[in-house]
Amino acid sequence: MTNKQVYRMTTTTATETTKKVRMTAGERAGIPPRRMDFEFGEDTKRYWYADNSFLTTFWTTLSALFPEGETFFVDTVKNYRHEIKDQLLKDQVSGFIGQEAMHSKEHAAFNDVAERNGLPTGTLDKEVGWLLKLGRKILPKKLQLAITVALEHYTAILAEQLLRDKRHQENISDPEALKLWMWHALEENEHKIVAYDVYQLVGGGYFLRTFAMLLATVFFFVIVIQGHARLMWADGSLFNIKANLKGLWFLWGWKGLFPTLTFKYLDYFRPGFHPNDHDTVQLLDDWREKMLQDGGMLADQIKNPSHAHMTGNTSAA
Ligand SMILES: [Fe+2]
Ligand SMILES: [Fe+2]
Repeated sequence: MTNKQVYRMTTTTATETTKKVRMTAGERAGIPPRRMDFEFGEDTKRYWYADNSFLTTFWTTLSALFPEGETFFVDTVKNYRHEIKDQLLKDQVSGFIGQEAMHSKEHAAFNDVAERNGLPTGTLDKEVGWLLKLGRKILPKKLQLAITVALEHYTAILAEQLLRDKRHQENISDPEALKLWMWHALEENEHKIVAYDVYQLVGGGYFLRTFAMLLATVFFFVIVIQGHARLMWADGSLFNIKANLKGLWFLWGWKGLFPTLTFKYLDYFRPGFHPNDHDTVQLLDDWREKMLQDGGMLADQIKNPSHAHMTGNTSAA
C-alpha cells in the first residue's frame, strides 16, 4: 500500500473521528507526536545499560546530543516548509516536528538525571548548541538539510536495531529508560522518510547528500568519542579496563552494534537510495501493538486526548 493510500484511509478515519476528538496533522499522516512525561528521578539506575559504565555513558552521550541535535533537524526542515504544497508531506512534516520536539524535551529530562549523577551532559549539550549555531550561520541551507537527512539515516538504522535486537531490551535494566529509548526508536522509524522527501522535493541531489553523510560521520564520531571519554572521566570509570573492554566489544566486536549497521549505513551511498528501502512496516506495527495497546509499556504514559487513534496501522515508513 502506498503512503498516499494509507493517508487517504487515515484521513477518512480522521473525518469520522473528528466528531469526537480532533486529530493533529501528524496523526493523520501516521506520524503522531505522542506527548510523554516520563518519571526519571532518584530511582533511575546509575548504570542503566547492562550494568556497564562504558555502555551507559555511551548511550548517555548520545542522549546529551539529542536536544540540540534534533532542534537543528527541525529547523533545517522548517527552512523549506513554505515550498511544500503536497498535503501529505505537509502533514508528515508537522508530525516530524512534533515528534522531534517531544524527543528533545524527554531526553533533556533524562540528561538532567545524568547531570545530577555527576556526568557533564549539560556541557556537551551547550557545546553542540554552539557548533550547530555556527553551522546554521555559515553553511548553505541545502547542506544543512542534507546533514539532517544523513543524521536521520543514522538515527533510523540505530533505532531499528534497538527495536530488532533483543539484547538492547534486555540490557536496559531501568524501566523508565527502556520506555524512553523504545518510544524514541519507534518514532524515529515512523518519520524516517520526512527529511529525505523534503530534500528531494527541493531539488537536493546525490553529490550533496553523500558529501553531507561523510561530513556528518566525521563530526558524529569525533563528538561522540570525545564526549564519551569526558563522561567516563567524570564518572571515574575511564580506566575501568574490564568494563571498557566489555563495552568496546559490544559496540565494535563480532555482531557488535556498529559492525551490524555497516551494510545499512553504506546503502545510503547507493544512487536511488530511499529510507523506505529498509522495510520496517511490520516491525513498527509489532512495536506499536506491544507498547501502545492496553497493558503495553507506554499505554498509560501518553497524554494526548486522541491517543485511542494513535495505535493504528498508519505508518509512513
Ligand atoms: Fe528524535
Ligand atoms: Fe528523527
